[in-house]
Amino acid sequence: MTLDQHLNDDYLARELRADVRTGLTADPRWLPPKWFYDARGSELFEEITRLTEYYPTRTERTLLEQHAAAVARTTEAKTLVEIGSGSSEKTRLLLDALVAHGTLGAFVPLDVSASALSSAVTSLAEAYPGLSIRGVVADMTRHLRHLPDGDSRLVAFLGGTIGNLVPAERAAFLSSLRSVLHEGEWLLLGADLVKDPAVLVPAYDDPAGVTAAFNRNVLHVINRELDADFDPAAFDHVAAWDPDHEWIEMRLRSRRDQLVRIAALDLDVPFTAGSELRTEISAKFHRSGLTAELEAAGFTPRHWWTDSRNWFGLTLAQAV
Ligand code: AVJ
Repeated sequence: MTLDQHLNDDYLARELRADVRTGLTADPRWLPPKWFYDARGSELFEEITRLTEYYPTRTERTLLEQHAAAVARTTEAKTLVEIGSGSSEKTRLLLDALVAHGTLGAFVPLDVSASALSSAVTSLAEAYPGLSIRGVVADMTRHLRHLPDGDSRLVAFLGGTIGNLVPAERAAFLSSLRSVLHEGEWLLLGADLVKDPAVLVPAYDDPAGVTAAFNRNVLHVINRELDADFDPAAFDHVAAWDPDHEWIEMRLRSRRDQLVRIAALDLDVPFTAGSELRTEISAKFHRSGLTAELEAAGFTPRHWWTDSRNWFGLTLAQAV
């Protein structure tokens, strides 16, 4: 079992500085969602996945329970690569099915969070002593070329994380993924589907305030890493459904006029009362749109699985 650090501390520090400067001086203001996931943010996300209102994780888990064996039979994968693996908790369903099928030799989880990855890799190495496990700390939008080459690979991109990318980023991501795969290799994609906003909004604005804490966590990250003085309590959590883009937008809304100092950037950022900072989009999909995006990137969908309510979709697509 190994952990490859493609994101050394220097690289991460430079990238955070660049993202914060770009995003906080833009109009409207924004931050990329990957900065949520320090150790605390990864814990808060795990807590979100257990909330009654947050249906994606358990819906996808049920789909994997039902269809992992079909994924194993169809792909006969020797290597499972998981992008944005986090705790890799649902991945065990795939690992079990592929091990039972008798083809799997290696597991390569890739995640931007070194803390989430190293604990996942440690516990998986214990649970699957026969597998070669190699964790890769990397940014999925930039470092897919660091994926180990191989044959008969299955790339799993689960949880609906594809929805954190805007359409142009998704097209770039899917094409770059396609370019590191050989013809015939596989992608298993989990995507959250468009549904009633009365279901969607509470999933991103839970009454217990876990998602609000997760959202504000990015301010704690900036305070710690860039010597800033954000008062997280001075920002309200906002989750809004955008019906035109069909995505949930998470924002932080300033409760008052305030000036935030980001010392490491020598930057002062004024917020007027009510002004907002976008921290995440979480796009929701239709089967037809996913098919079109996959095909445009050089994948052919071979299987589609969804739950009885049509809330979440799993697509198994082949590189062609
Ligand atoms: C891990 C990116 C799939 O967009 O639903 C959960 C992150 N944000 N609640 C999502 C998240 C707010 C989650 N993904």
